[in-house]
Amino acid sequence: KRKVIIDCDPGIDDALALMLAIKSEELEILGITVCSGNVPAKMGAKNAIKVLEICERTDIPVYIGEELPLVRELVTAQDTHGEDGLGENNYSDVEGVEPKEGGVQFIVDTLKNEENVSIIALAPLTNIAKALQVDKEAFANIDEFVTMGGNFKSNGNCSPVAEFNYWVDPHAADYVYKNMPVKVQMIGLDVTREIVLTPNRLEFMSRLGNEKMYKFIKEITRFYIDFHWKQEGIIGCVINDPLAIAYFIDKSICSGKEYFVEVEEVGKAIGMTIVDEFDFYKKEKNALVLTEVDSEKTMKMFMNRIFPGNEE
Ligand code: BDR
Ligand code: CA
Repeated sequence: KRKVIIDCDPGIDDALALMLAIKSEELEILGITVCSGNVPAKMGAKNAIKVLEICERTDIPVYIGEELPLVRELVTAQDTHGEDGLGENNYSDVEGVEPKEGGVQFIVDTLKNEENVSIIALAPLTNIAKALQVDKEAFANIDEFVTMGGNFKSNGNCSPVAEFNYWVDPHAADYVYKNMPVKVQMIGLDVTREIVLTPNRLEFMSRLGNEKMYKFIKEITRFYIDFHWKQEGIIGCVINDPLAIAYFIDKSICSGKEYFVEVEEVGKAIGMTIVDEFDFYKKEKNALVLTEVDSEKTMKMFMNRIFPGNEE
């Protein structure tokens, strides 16, 4: 099994990503760390526990990390994910399971004490940047680092040029690209926009004999589907975060190229991912930018793992 820390901000698509990760036997989830993004960190951590409860895995520890971006003021995405971050279903907190404090320290300690740990980040990169600032040495042995965030050839989703996770904390994103000792694997909007959970898929799920999972997925995605219809005129919802998990497990799902990448921290283009495609800066390549995706394979992985026994 591959040891991972999942850093997230649940968030509807984060919830789906956690479900996929939990149901994937290849992964040993050492802990879930949460920072502010879609919702404030404490709320996100409680949401993560709700997902663990649905998956009967409340043994996985959840840590609250940074509550504010490094420099910018916090802007959440409660218009997209609902006031409660899970589609305004107002699920009650799981009794007897509390998130722990100290997300950043957990990341540092885990990297120090365990071999071959990877991090999959599905949120603004605040926790990761902080952990690098606290103890960069701890990252010397990191296995892989995958981030869902950014955009290369594709437009942004919260400004014409910026993707949400990097826009919320551009200083953290830039810091991570410049200081991560391994190449940053960027699962940006170029690939995640291809992963759409359609009403057809939901209808299919309803027939697969796992009422609990289906009900939860249907309930949390309703608000998100409404948002996509109003905002982009599409039927269904783009589920960004599960792709980072799917790609971590099966590298054949996405392909791309290595570039030098940085993130704009100020001005009109704040949060923009700057990919030096033509090597103007002559800087060492610090990222693998994924631009091609097998969306069918991704959806099949998602369905087959969350609803096993119904393999397509
Ligand atoms: C990213 O922003 C968040 O709203 C989603 O959870 C995802 O991580 C997509 O831009
Ligand atoms: Ca997210």
